[in-house]
Amino acid sequence: MAEITVKAGQALERILTLELVRVTERAAVAAARLRGRGDEKAADQAAVDAMRRELNRLPIAGRIVIGEGERDEAPMLFIGEEVGTGRGPAVDIAVDPLEGTTLCAKNMPGSIAVMAMAEGGTLLNAPDVYMDKIAIGPGYAKGVIDLDASPEENIHSLAKAKGVKPNEITALILDRPRHAGIIAAVRNTGASVQLITDGDVAGVIHTTDPDETGVDIYLGTGGAPEGVLAAAALRCIGGQMYTRLILDTDEKRARAKKMGVADPRKVYDIFDMVRGDCLISATGVSTGNMLKGVKFDKDVIKTHTVVMRSASGTVRWIEAEHRDHSKFGFD
Ligand code: FBP
Repeated sequence: MAEITVKAGQALERILTLELVRVTERAAVAAARLRGRGDEKAADQAAVDAMRRELNRLPIAGRIVIGEGERDEAPMLFIGEEVGTGRGPAVDIAVDPLEGTTLCAKNMPGSIAVMAMAEGGTLLNAPDVYMDKIAIGPGYAKGVIDLDASPEENIHSLAKAKGVKPNEITALILDRPRHAGIIAAVRNTGASVQLITDGDVAGVIHTTDPDETGVDIYLGTGGAPEGVLAAAALRCIGGQMYTRLILDTDEKRARAKKMGVADPRKVYDIFDMVRGDCLISATGVSTGNMLKGVKFDKDVIKTHTVVMRSASGTVRWIEAEHRDHSKFGFD
């Protein structure tokens, strides 16, 4: 059999791919135990604890860049926290141990555990503020969408590029009062609007496979940390995404400046948000369009994960059966 030869950095990344899966699997199982209990905080904490425990086993010198908050507000997985054994490559880490806390607490579809890892110093240090976002999948020329164009212009431009009428385009938008104007504008073009109550990391990822998901474009304002995680996914699969931090108070501008944001009005593309090679893993907590939720059978816990690697563009869907329940703190 031919020997596999890879550069040192590459080899490590390949090996780490499966390690990331373990991390999001553990977080998802921990959160899934609290599905439908109406307690967002408890579910999130369970996912945080499990993710942190697992991250600290990895052979990396990791630094949390996108985490649970700043040091004074988050005791675990705070921005700047060092994770991993310290023996391994220097990497930036973005985590959302439970994306869609409300979805999980209400046992609604689509909550996930997600994390990304990138070469050290290459992830955007985004403060926990809102971000304007627009995203489409792969296969379009640059310039088809524009964060500063109106929703009507973006829908018309995308429809033209796709070779369809605007009424054959579907836009995914978070169902929030602040999006009333965008929703009306998109509908004005004849395009269809699909609303989600939460979870715009998966929302953006949906644009990458319109044949499967029916979603052509993501529009609207959501969390900046979630924006960086979505950008990591698009860096692996392809697509376009443009964002801008919403820094509408002096306090937010000061916080962003402290985190290295020099231009508060800057429009970021995928390669500004994730400048180096990255890996991203997401495991379903409650079943959604993209991932099945955790299933607790009598002897087996089943998980469903997608893991992506930008260096190769590989996307792996992993259905796992876990027999050793003790690993999940299960007697
Ligand atoms: P949480 O898991 O922190 O609740 O975030 C869910 C989410 O829907 C994100 O996907 C999205 O970016 C953000 O909330 C939108 O914020 P808001 O709920 O304040 O509109």
